[in-house]
Amino acid sequence: MSEDTRVPPGNVLRYSFPERLVHWLAGFSYVYLMLTGLAFWSPWLFWLAFALGGGTISRELHSWVGLIFVVAVLLMFRMWHRQMHETAVDKEWWDAIPHYIRNEDEYVPTVGRFNGGQKLLFWGFLWCGLFLLLSGLILWFPNWVPWNLRYLRYIAVIVHPSLALITIGLFIIHVYMGLAMERGALISMTRGYVTIAFAKRYHGLWYNRVADDPSAKNETP
Ligand code: HEM
Repeated sequence: MSEDTRVPPGNVLRYSFPERLVHWLAGFSYVYLMLTGLAFWSPWLFWLAFALGGGTISRELHSWVGLIFVVAVLLMFRMWHRQMHETAVDKEWWDAIPHYIRNEDEYVPTVGRFNGGQKLLFWGFLWCGLFLLLSGLILWFPNWVPWNLRYLRYIAVIVHPSLALITIGLFIIHVYMGLAMERGALISMTRGYVTIAFAKRYHGLWYNRVADDPSAKNETP
């Protein structure tokens, strides 16, 4: 049975099973990284490491889970990057952001599969993820850094937590949007589908395309 046939009447498929799987790989690995990272960042938060199995195991797993997170983000890039480029409609959407925040839908332009904010999150996590990996590798293997490039270690000590704090900001907004602000969004990432009303309200241009041809789900923009 193809996944599309399991979409109940009155709904449309928004995320395929592979898309959801990759998303939750990124989601769960990120939460682990955030909690253990916060534990290493401040002595006030070190209790988090105890809660997650102890300081030693948290320190060891943080690096490996970091690799899993970056792989998930790269898979996301492969799946979605063509649909994440900014369009003229996204610029109009950003101009209308105060109306979007106040739920004044009549003043918010209808957008494609992802709105400007979702695209910003995607690129933010991609670039932060790549530089977190680079700085993380330096912190993981400091002895591999040649002596004449030793200043890179000091840069990594500053860059790694700074980028992590940026991603925490993105993460808080993302979870708030997904769980509280756009009712129905969470189901799209668990069961894969959204109601037609949700699709029309938040992604009208995308809905018009998939209503005619469900296989057009992944087309740009
Ligand atoms: C673990 C907590 C998380 C929850 C509850 C969550 C929830 C969601 C939901 C409900 C959607 C669907 C939004 C829609 O299409 O309207 C979504 C999409 C998405 N998520 Fe997450 N997510 C989480 C973590 C993450 C992390 C850590 C990343 C970073 C890589 C991420 C990246 C994305 C991206 C790129 C999309 C598609 C565009 C967007 O909706 O922003 N998510 N997420």
